[in-house]
Amino acid sequence: LLGAVSALAISLTATQAMAQCEDGEMVIKFSHVVAATGHPKGDAATMLADRVNEEMNGTACMEVFANSTLYDDDKVMEALLLGDVQLAAPSLSKFEAYTKKYRLFDLPFLFSSLDAVDAFAASDAGKELLKATESSGYTGLGYWSSGLKQFSANKPLEVPSDANGLKFRVQTSDVAVAMIEAMGASAQKLAFKEVYGALQTGVVDGQENTWSNIYTQKFFEVQDGITETNHQLLAYLLVTSTEWLNGLDPAVRDQFLAIVDDVTMKANGQVAEKEAANRQNIIDAGATVRELTAEQRAEWVSTMKPVWQKFEGDIGKDLIDAAVASNG
Ligand code: LMR
Repeated sequence: LLGAVSALAISLTATQAMAQCEDGEMVIKFSHVVAATGHPKGDAATMLADRVNEEMNGTACMEVFANSTLYDDDKVMEALLLGDVQLAAPSLSKFEAYTKKYRLFDLPFLFSSLDAVDAFAASDAGKELLKATESSGYTGLGYWSSGLKQFSANKPLEVPSDANGLKFRVQTSDVAVAMIEAMGASAQKLAFKEVYGALQTGVVDGQENTWSNIYTQKFFEVQDGITETNHQLLAYLLVTSTEWLNGLDPAVRDQFLAIVDDVTMKANGQVAEKEAANRQNIIDAGATVRELTAEQRAEWVSTMKPVWQKFEGDIGKDLIDAAVASNG
């Protein structure tokens, strides 16, 4: 019965979203895993859909499927190649099967701020790196930032050794696994939609994510508190199938890509504000947010940063240096 109910819910969502598409319009489906609103990616996807639906009315029509209602991040990559969806924005941590270069973005304490991320994205090295998935049939259309990550667990975390022996959910990223192991903890890769349940039932003890994900997925409800480590970036690759993109009429493609670029810039400009708002939402909900002293922070940095060395060969020293240089 549950299966039938969720199938019905999916088809209702699809039908509602379809309703705005007219005959003859090219349908562009965008599937993602986070909240539809109040989240940097959810809001960016809506902004993109609104712009396409207004400015390309009669030519194209975009439907957004949020909250893993259509696909999770593994399945969506296959769905892009099959033409079942045209846009997705999985986190850069989830591209291990396609390129090891994106391990760059997971290096702990690499970017000192979201402005540094924007500067790197706009640099030659950042633009070149957008092409890293081309040999697998994907075109990267831009980087969408989501924020810096924070740790939470079922006990207070102030210094990395507090995590000794705990198990943390991570994304499908070997850098994240190495980082967690450096803390004397163990890592378990889980799909995003499974995280709340895994925390609630004790399958894992803790997790790491942005303020927006911790708030909109309600992870704070089933954790002792959140420690403001800002230890790692969460950012996405807005990605499409090269075959689909190349098949578009050139004028339509140009118009679409111009909208994508503009929305990417605007959405990235709003991330810091949304993250701050969700941090406050968590506090307002009564959860504990632990700020680090300079000494505590230094411990997190010295525990995690040695992980860089392990991945330098996959990423390339030049690329790491270019990213570090964007910190200004
Ligand atoms: C995660 O799996 O934690 C994130 O990649 C989810 C997301 O898309 O923000």
